[in-house]
Formats: sequence, C-alpha cells, structure tokens
Amino acid sequence: MSATLVREPRQVGPLADRLNTILATRGIDPRVTAEDPPTEPVTALELADARIPARYRRALADHSQIIAWADHIAGAGRPGPGGPGIAEGPSLLIAGPTGTGKTHQAYGAVRALLTRGVRLRWEATTSADLHARLRPRAGHDGERELQTLARCPLLLLDDLGAAKTSEWTEELTYRLINHRYEHMLPTLITTNLPTAELRTALGDRVASRLAEMTERVVFTGPDRRRTAPAP
Ligand SMILES: Nc1ncnc2c1ncn2[C@@H]1O[C@H](COP(=O)(O)OP(=O)(O)OP(=O)(O)O)[C@@H](O)[C@H]1O
Ligand SMILES: [Mg+2]
Repeated sequence: MSATLVREPRQVGPLADRLNTILATRGIDPRVTAEDPPTEPVTALELADARIPARYRRALADHSQIIAWADHIAGAGRPGPGGPGIAEGPSLLIAGPTGTGKTHQAYGAVRALLTRGVRLRWEATTSADLHARLRPRAGHDGERELQTLARCPLLLLDDLGAAKTSEWTEELTYRLINHRYEHMLPTLITTNLPTAELRTALGDRVASRLAEMTERVVFTGPDRRRTAPAP
C-alpha cells in the first residue's frame, strides 16, 4: 500500500500582513525600494591621488624630458575599452642632488599618464622601504611582494642607492631591476647618486642594465626645501 503525501498550499497572506505591520511600526514603507545614494564619477586620477603621498598629490611634471616620456608611453599603450593600457617602454632615471624635485617630477609623471587617459596599475616605493618590506620575517611572503613590484606595469623606485646595501639588498635590487629590464616594463627611478657612484653602490650588473633601459634626466640647482617658502 502506498501513501500519497499532499501538502496544503502555504498561506503567505497572513505572514505578509504581519511583516507589513512590523515595518509600519518602524516607520518603513515596504513599497519604497532602497535607492543608492547619488554618486559622482571617480576618475582614475582621483583614485591615484588617494595613494600619492600628500606632499606630491598635486605634483605636475613640467620637465621637458618627463613630459616627452609620458607622451611616448601614453602613445605606445595598447588600446582598450577604458583607454590605452601601459605597455613595454623606456624607463626614466631622474638623478640629482637632494631637494631638486626628483620625487615631485616622478609622481608628476604618474599623474601625467593618468591625465592622458592611460589605464594604469602602478606601485611606488623607496629603496629603503623596499628592503624593509621584503626582509624575511615570519608569516610574510617577501618573495610574493617582490614579484608584485617586479611585474607591476609601472613602478616608481624612489631614492635608489640611498639605503645601506648588503649582499642581500644587492641581490634584491638586481632581481627587481633585471625583471623590469628583461620585460621592458616602464620604471621611474630617482637617485641622488651620479652614474659612477651608482655602479659602486648597486653593482655593475644593475648599473649596466640601468644604462640601457633608462633615459637619464639630470636635475641641478638648489635644495628647494631650503629655498621654498613654508606652505
Ligand atoms: N616643480 C616643482 N614645483 C613646486 N614644488 C616643487 C617642485 N619640485 C619640487 N618641489 C618641492 O620641493 C621639495 C623637494 O622636492 P622633492 O622631494 O621632489 O626633492 P628630491 O629631489 O626628491 O629630494 P631627495 O633627493 O632628498 O629625495 C618638495 O617640497 C616638493 O614638493
Ligand atoms: Mg626624493
């Protein structure tokens, strides 16, 4: 003998009525659908500004070589739906004494690419911070972080050669620069060191790759920190 289970149709009416009563006591009208608050479009430049250190957030690249580099990179980018993507291209080595505006121009170059509509994934670090970030420690995958920086479409490596070096930092810098050299990934490098000292500080393998992969921009003049009026 087989039994057939028959399920009574559910009465949703009373349940819905109870729910509506609860909402009404809380001042909520169930017929009104939630609307997203009005938002203003956020441009890539505004998003980037949030990641740029405050001092350089309005930096404008006004040096002719840096403007030419930004024009070249923007012009060579692969076309895509959101604008040209950054591709292979030359790097810049911005050299000069302290306070001459190297970091200012480097962030200005990042901003220049964004204002030219280039879709851009970029990273920035000083070489001293790079060493600190990648130093082996428990629970931290330094190798992965190195790969992220090495493969990033645009990297700003600030103050190269300023940090204390060791065999380990030399190897790290070599691997970073060598990857970017081999894959021709645009890299903005600033340094206080003249060319001859760069070789001593970073080793010949790094200096040789930099000589081939970068256009050199040399800044001269007084320390702007000491001459500019306080903000
Ligand atoms: N073109 C510019 N217009 C206005 N301000 C500038 C310009 N260039 C640099 N500055 C200002 O001058 C100061 C020094 O600039 P910056 O930090 O770029 O120097 P630097 O060459 O990177 O120095 P260091 O070698 O010590 O890192 C900063 O306050 C920066 O905002
Ligand atoms: Mg600097």
